Amino acid sequence: MRLNNKVILITGAATGLSDEIQGIGGAAAWKCAEEGAKTIIGDISDDMGEETAQQINQMGGYARYIHLDVTNEDNWVSAYKSIESVEGKLDVLVNNAGTGIPNYDSSVTDARSPEEALMVEYTTVEGLESQLKVHAQGVLLGMKHAIPLLRKQKGGSVINVSSIHGIVGTHTVTSYQAAKGAVRQLTKAAAVQYSPENIRVNSIHPGFTKTPLTTELFTNPELHSDRTSQIPLGRFAESEEIAMGIVFLASDESSYITGSELVIDGGVIAQ
Ligand SMILES: NC(=O)c1ccc[n+]([C@@H]2O[C@H](COP(=O)([O-])OP(=O)(O)OC[C@H]3O[C@@H](n4cnc5c(N)ncnc54)[C@H](O)[C@@H]3O)[C@@H](O)[C@H]2O)c1
Repeated sequence: MRLNNKVILITGAATGLSDEIQGIGGAAAWKCAEEGAKTIIGDISDDMGEETAQQINQMGGYARYIHLDVTNEDNWVSAYKSIESVEGKLDVLVNNAGTGIPNYDSSVTDARSPEEALMVEYTTVEGLESQLKVHAQGVLLGMKHAIPLLRKQKGGSVINVSSIHGIVGTHTVTSYQAAKGAVRQLTKAAAVQYSPENIRVNSIHPGFTKTPLTTELFTNPELHSDRTSQIPLGRFAESEEIAMGIVFLASDESSYITGSELVIDGGVIAQ
Protein backbone atom coordinates (compact mmCIF):
# COMPACT_ATOMS: atom_id res chain seq x y z
CA MET A 1 0.00 0.00 0.00
CA ARG A 2 2.49 2.59 -1.21
CA LEU A 3 -0.19 5.26 -1.65
CA ASN A 4 -2.38 4.57 1.37
CA ASN A 5 -4.71 7.48 2.25
CA LYS A 6 -3.54 9.63 -0.66
CA VAL A 7 -6.09 11.37 -2.89
CA ILE A 8 -4.88 11.39 -6.49
CA LEU A 9 -6.42 13.12 -9.51
CA ILE A 10 -5.37 11.64 -12.86
CA THR A 11 -6.46 13.37 -16.06
CA GLY A 12 -7.01 11.42 -19.26
CA ALA A 13 -7.58 8.23 -17.28
CA ALA A 14 -10.83 7.06 -18.89
CA THR A 15 -9.04 4.50 -21.08
CA GLY A 16 -8.77 2.01 -18.21
CA LEU A 17 -11.30 -0.69 -19.12
CA SER A 18 -9.95 -3.99 -17.84
CA ASP A 19 -10.64 -6.00 -21.01
CA GLU A 20 -9.15 -3.49 -23.47
CA ILE A 21 -5.75 -1.97 -24.25
CA GLN A 22 -5.36 0.64 -21.54
CA GLY A 23 -3.97 4.14 -21.81
CA ILE A 24 -1.25 5.39 -19.49
CA GLY A 25 -3.77 7.26 -17.31
CA GLY A 26 -6.15 4.28 -17.19
CA ALA A 27 -3.35 1.92 -16.16
CA ALA A 28 -2.17 4.46 -13.58
CA ALA A 29 -5.69 4.69 -12.12
CA TRP A 30 -5.66 0.91 -11.50
CA LYS A 31 -2.14 0.88 -10.05
CA CYS A 32 -2.81 3.86 -7.75
CA ALA A 33 -6.06 2.29 -6.50
CA GLU A 34 -4.27 -1.03 -5.92
CA GLU A 35 -1.68 0.85 -3.84
CA GLY A 36 -4.43 2.24 -1.59
CA ALA A 37 -5.09 5.67 -3.12
CA LYS A 38 -8.47 7.30 -3.55
CA THR A 39 -8.25 7.79 -7.30
CA ILE A 40 -10.18 10.44 -9.19
CA ILE A 41 -10.42 10.01 -12.94
CA GLY A 42 -10.82 13.28 -14.89
CA ASP A 43 -11.61 13.02 -18.60
CA ILE A 44 -13.96 14.12 -21.38
CA SER A 45 -14.83 10.55 -22.33
CA ASP A 46 -17.65 10.26 -19.79
CA ASP A 47 -19.04 6.77 -20.44
CA MET A 48 -15.64 5.12 -20.49
CA GLY A 49 -14.48 7.10 -17.44
CA GLU A 50 -17.56 6.08 -15.43
CA GLU A 51 -17.10 2.45 -16.43
CA THR A 52 -13.40 2.42 -15.57
CA ALA A 53 -14.18 3.86 -12.12
CA GLN A 54 -16.94 1.30 -11.64
CA GLN A 55 -14.60 -1.59 -12.53
CA ILE A 56 -11.95 -0.36 -10.07
CA ASN A 57 -14.59 -0.07 -7.32
CA GLN A 58 -15.86 -3.59 -8.09
CA MET A 59 -12.32 -4.90 -7.56
CA GLY A 60 -12.24 -3.32 -4.10
CA GLY A 61 -10.41 -0.08 -4.93
CA TYR A 62 -11.66 3.49 -4.62
CA ALA A 63 -12.25 5.42 -7.84
CA ARG A 64 -14.56 8.26 -8.84
CA TYR A 65 -15.11 9.84 -12.24
CA ILE A 66 -15.35 13.59 -12.84
CA HIS A 67 -15.98 15.24 -16.21
CA LEU A 68 -12.90 17.42 -16.73
CA ASP A 69 -11.88 19.05 -19.99
CA VAL A 70 -8.32 20.07 -19.11
CA THR A 71 -8.44 23.05 -21.49
CA ASN A 72 -11.37 24.58 -19.58
CA GLU A 73 -10.52 26.59 -16.45
CA ASP A 74 -14.07 26.42 -15.04
CA ASN A 75 -13.93 22.61 -15.28
CA TRP A 76 -10.76 22.57 -13.18
CA VAL A 77 -12.29 24.83 -10.52
CA SER A 78 -15.40 22.59 -10.30
CA ALA A 79 -13.31 19.40 -10.21
CA TYR A 80 -11.24 20.61 -7.26
CA LYS A 81 -14.38 21.84 -5.44
CA SER A 82 -15.89 18.41 -5.89
CA ILE A 83 -12.72 16.69 -4.61
CA GLU A 84 -12.55 18.98 -1.56
CA SER A 85 -16.15 18.29 -0.70
CA VAL A 86 -16.15 14.50 -1.33
CA GLU A 87 -12.60 13.27 -0.61
CA GLY A 88 -11.68 16.25 1.59
CA LYS A 89 -8.18 16.90 0.21
CA LEU A 90 -5.75 16.49 -2.70
CA ASP A 91 -2.28 14.93 -2.41
CA VAL A 92 -1.27 14.20 -5.99
CA LEU A 93 -2.12 15.58 -9.43
CA VAL A 94 -1.21 13.61 -12.55
CA ASN A 95 -1.50 15.72 -15.71
CA ASN A 96 -1.73 12.94 -18.27
CA ALA A 97 -4.52 13.93 -20.72
CA GLY A 98 -3.30 14.18 -24.27
CA THR A 99 -4.33 14.02 -27.88
CA GLY A 100 -2.86 12.80 -31.12
CA ILE A 101 -2.24 14.79 -34.23
CA PRO A 102 -5.08 15.33 -36.74
CA ASN A 103 -5.14 12.90 -39.64
CA TYR A 104 -3.32 13.65 -42.85
CA ASP A 105 -5.59 15.52 -45.25
CA SER A 106 -4.07 15.54 -48.73
CA SER A 107 -6.58 18.16 -49.88
CA VAL A 108 -5.11 20.84 -47.62
CA THR A 109 -1.39 20.17 -48.00
CA ASP A 110 1.09 19.50 -50.75
CA ALA A 111 3.20 17.39 -48.38
CA ARG A 112 4.07 14.01 -49.90
CA SER A 113 3.27 11.85 -46.87
CA PRO A 114 1.50 12.00 -43.50
CA GLU A 115 4.85 12.26 -41.74
CA GLU A 116 6.08 15.09 -43.99
CA ALA A 117 2.79 16.92 -43.40
CA LEU A 118 3.81 17.26 -39.74
CA MET A 119 7.20 18.84 -40.43
CA VAL A 120 7.86 22.51 -39.68
CA GLU A 121 7.07 23.92 -43.13
CA TYR A 122 3.61 22.31 -43.19
CA THR A 123 2.70 22.96 -39.55
CA THR A 124 -0.31 25.24 -39.20
CA VAL A 125 -1.06 27.75 -36.47
CA GLU A 126 -4.29 25.84 -35.74
CA GLY A 127 -2.36 22.58 -35.36
CA LEU A 128 0.15 24.18 -33.02
CA GLU A 129 -2.56 25.88 -30.96
CA SER A 130 -4.57 22.69 -30.56
CA GLN A 131 -1.54 20.79 -29.20
CA LEU A 132 -0.51 23.64 -26.91
CA LYS A 133 -4.08 23.92 -25.64
CA VAL A 134 -4.38 20.36 -24.36
CA HIS A 135 -0.81 19.77 -23.27
CA ALA A 136 0.56 23.15 -22.14
CA GLN A 137 -2.62 25.05 -21.17
CA GLY A 138 -4.10 21.90 -19.60
CA VAL A 139 -1.00 21.31 -17.48
CA LEU A 140 -0.74 24.96 -16.45
CA LEU A 141 -4.40 25.17 -15.36
CA GLY A 142 -4.21 21.88 -13.50
CA MET A 143 -1.18 23.00 -11.50
CA LYS A 144 -2.45 26.55 -10.98
CA HIS A 145 -5.62 25.40 -9.22
CA ALA A 146 -4.01 22.43 -7.46
CA ILE A 147 -1.41 24.51 -5.61
CA PRO A 148 -3.84 25.96 -2.98
CA LEU A 149 -5.12 22.45 -2.16
CA LEU A 150 -1.62 20.94 -1.96
CA ARG A 151 -0.52 23.87 0.22
CA LYS A 152 -3.28 23.00 2.70
CA GLN A 153 -1.75 19.50 2.97
CA LYS A 154 1.70 21.07 3.54
CA GLY A 155 3.02 19.39 0.42
CA GLY A 156 2.20 17.08 -2.44
CA SER A 157 3.31 15.71 -5.77
CA VAL A 158 2.53 16.82 -9.31
CA ILE A 159 3.42 14.51 -12.19
CA ASN A 160 3.26 15.88 -15.72
CA VAL A 161 3.27 13.37 -18.56
CA SER A 162 5.47 14.73 -21.34
CA SER A 163 7.21 12.48 -23.89
CA ILE A 164 10.67 11.62 -25.15
CA HIS A 165 9.70 14.12 -27.84
CA GLY A 166 9.65 16.83 -25.18
CA ILE A 167 13.41 16.23 -24.81
CA VAL A 168 14.78 15.21 -28.21
CA GLY A 169 13.71 16.15 -31.71
CA THR A 170 12.18 13.85 -34.29
CA HIS A 171 11.42 14.09 -38.02
CA THR A 172 7.71 14.70 -37.67
CA VAL A 173 4.92 15.74 -35.17
CA THR A 174 6.31 19.29 -34.84
CA SER A 175 3.47 20.82 -32.83
CA TYR A 176 3.31 17.80 -30.49
CA GLN A 177 7.03 18.25 -29.79
CA ALA A 178 6.55 21.96 -29.08
CA ALA A 179 3.72 21.19 -26.65
CA LYS A 180 5.57 18.37 -24.86
CA GLY A 181 8.65 20.60 -24.54
CA ALA A 182 6.40 23.18 -22.88
CA VAL A 183 5.18 20.53 -20.41
CA ARG A 184 8.79 19.70 -19.50
CA GLN A 185 9.68 23.33 -18.82
CA LEU A 186 6.42 24.20 -17.00
CA THR A 187 7.36 21.32 -14.70
CA LYS A 188 10.72 22.83 -13.88
CA ALA A 189 9.25 26.30 -13.29
CA ALA A 190 6.68 24.93 -10.83
CA ALA A 191 9.25 22.67 -9.14
CA VAL A 192 11.50 25.63 -8.36
CA GLN A 193 8.64 27.94 -7.36
CA TYR A 194 6.89 25.53 -4.96
CA SER A 195 9.71 23.42 -3.48
CA PRO A 196 9.82 25.70 -0.39
CA GLU A 197 6.28 24.43 0.31
CA ASN A 198 7.26 20.77 -0.16
CA ILE A 199 5.27 20.53 -3.38
CA ARG A 200 7.28 18.31 -5.72
CA VAL A 201 6.79 18.58 -9.48
CA ASN A 202 8.30 16.10 -11.95
CA SER A 203 7.81 15.07 -15.56
CA ILE A 204 7.58 11.60 -17.06
CA HIS A 205 8.82 10.99 -20.60
CA PRO A 206 7.38 7.82 -22.10
CA GLY A 207 8.73 6.36 -25.30
CA PHE A 208 6.62 4.26 -27.69
CA THR A 209 3.85 2.77 -25.54
CA LYS A 210 0.95 0.50 -26.52
CA THR A 211 -2.20 2.54 -25.82
CA PRO A 212 -5.40 3.45 -27.69
CA LEU A 213 -3.61 6.62 -28.90
CA THR A 214 -0.87 4.66 -30.67
CA THR A 215 -2.95 1.79 -32.09
CA GLU A 216 -1.79 2.57 -35.63
CA LEU A 217 1.87 2.43 -34.59
CA PHE A 218 1.69 -1.09 -33.23
CA THR A 219 -0.92 -2.58 -35.58
CA ASN A 220 0.56 -1.32 -38.87
CA PRO A 221 3.48 -3.76 -39.49
CA GLU A 222 5.61 -1.19 -41.35
CA LEU A 223 5.23 1.52 -38.69
CA HIS A 224 5.63 -1.03 -35.90
CA SER A 225 8.90 -2.36 -37.26
CA ASP A 226 10.23 1.16 -37.94
CA ARG A 227 9.53 2.29 -34.35
CA THR A 228 10.69 -0.98 -32.78
CA SER A 229 14.02 -0.69 -34.63
CA GLN A 230 14.61 2.55 -32.68
CA ILE A 231 14.12 0.87 -29.28
CA PRO A 232 17.18 -0.79 -27.66
CA LEU A 233 14.93 -3.04 -25.53
CA GLY A 234 13.33 -4.13 -28.81
CA ARG A 235 9.64 -3.67 -27.96
CA PHE A 236 6.99 -1.07 -27.16
CA ALA A 237 6.24 -0.35 -23.48
CA GLU A 238 3.05 -1.64 -21.88
CA SER A 239 1.03 1.18 -20.31
CA GLU A 240 1.54 -0.42 -16.85
CA GLU A 241 5.29 0.10 -17.21
CA ILE A 242 4.75 3.85 -17.46
CA ALA A 243 2.11 3.72 -14.71
CA MET A 244 4.68 2.29 -12.27
CA GLY A 245 6.76 5.46 -12.74
CA ILE A 246 3.67 7.47 -11.83
CA VAL A 247 3.18 5.37 -8.67
CA PHE A 248 6.81 5.97 -7.65
CA LEU A 249 6.66 9.75 -8.15
CA ALA A 250 3.28 9.91 -6.37
CA SER A 251 4.59 7.99 -3.36
CA ASP A 252 6.77 9.21 -0.50
CA GLU A 253 9.55 6.97 -1.86
CA SER A 254 10.41 9.88 -4.18
CA SER A 255 10.39 12.50 -1.38
CA TYR A 256 13.70 14.09 -2.47
CA ILE A 257 12.93 14.17 -6.19
CA THR A 258 11.65 17.36 -7.75
CA GLY A 259 12.17 19.11 -11.09
CA SER A 260 13.45 15.89 -12.60
CA GLU A 261 12.66 13.97 -15.78
CA LEU A 262 11.83 10.29 -15.53
CA VAL A 263 12.49 8.79 -18.96
CA ILE A 264 10.75 5.43 -19.51
CA ASP A 265 11.55 4.56 -23.11
CA GLY A 266 13.40 1.26 -23.39
CA GLY A 267 16.60 3.19 -24.11
CA VAL A 268 15.51 5.20 -27.17
CA ILE A 269 17.06 8.52 -26.18
CA ALA A 270 20.14 6.99 -24.57
CA GLN A 271 21.46 6.49 -28.11
N1 LIG B 1 1.33 6.21 -26.00
C1 LIG B 1 2.54 6.70 -26.20
O1 LIG B 1 3.36 6.12 -26.94
C2 LIG B 1 2.94 7.98 -25.52
C3 LIG B 1 4.28 8.35 -25.59
C4 LIG B 1 4.68 9.54 -24.96
C5 LIG B 1 3.76 10.30 -24.29
N2 LIG B 1 2.46 9.92 -24.26
C6 LIG B 1 1.54 10.79 -23.54
O2 LIG B 1 0.87 10.04 -22.55
C7 LIG B 1 -0.40 10.64 -22.26
C8 LIG B 1 -1.47 9.57 -22.31
O3 LIG B 1 -1.57 9.08 -23.63
P1 LIG B 1 -2.07 7.63 -24.00
O4 LIG B 1 -1.14 7.12 -25.02
O5 LIG B 1 -2.32 6.85 -22.78
O6 LIG B 1 -3.42 7.99 -24.78
P2 LIG B 1 -4.98 7.63 -24.55
O7 LIG B 1 -5.66 8.08 -25.78
O8 LIG B 1 -5.14 6.24 -24.10
O9 LIG B 1 -5.37 8.57 -23.36
C9 LIG B 1 -5.56 9.94 -23.49
C10 LIG B 1 -6.78 10.33 -22.69
O10 LIG B 1 -6.84 11.76 -22.64
C11 LIG B 1 -8.19 12.13 -22.76
N3 LIG B 1 -8.30 13.51 -23.22
C12 LIG B 1 -8.04 14.03 -24.44
N4 LIG B 1 -8.29 15.35 -24.47
C13 LIG B 1 -8.70 15.68 -23.21
C14 LIG B 1 -9.12 16.89 -22.60
N5 LIG B 1 -9.17 18.04 -23.29
N6 LIG B 1 -9.47 16.84 -21.31
C15 LIG B 1 -9.43 15.69 -20.60
N7 LIG B 1 -9.07 14.52 -21.13
C16 LIG B 1 -8.71 14.52 -22.43
C17 LIG B 1 -8.78 11.13 -23.73
O11 LIG B 1 -10.19 11.07 -23.65
C18 LIG B 1 -8.11 9.83 -23.27
O12 LIG B 1 -8.85 9.20 -22.26
C19 LIG B 1 -0.58 11.75 -23.31
O13 LIG B 1 -0.26 12.99 -22.73
C20 LIG B 1 0.42 11.36 -24.39
O14 LIG B 1 0.85 12.47 -25.14
C21 LIG B 1 2.03 8.77 -24.85
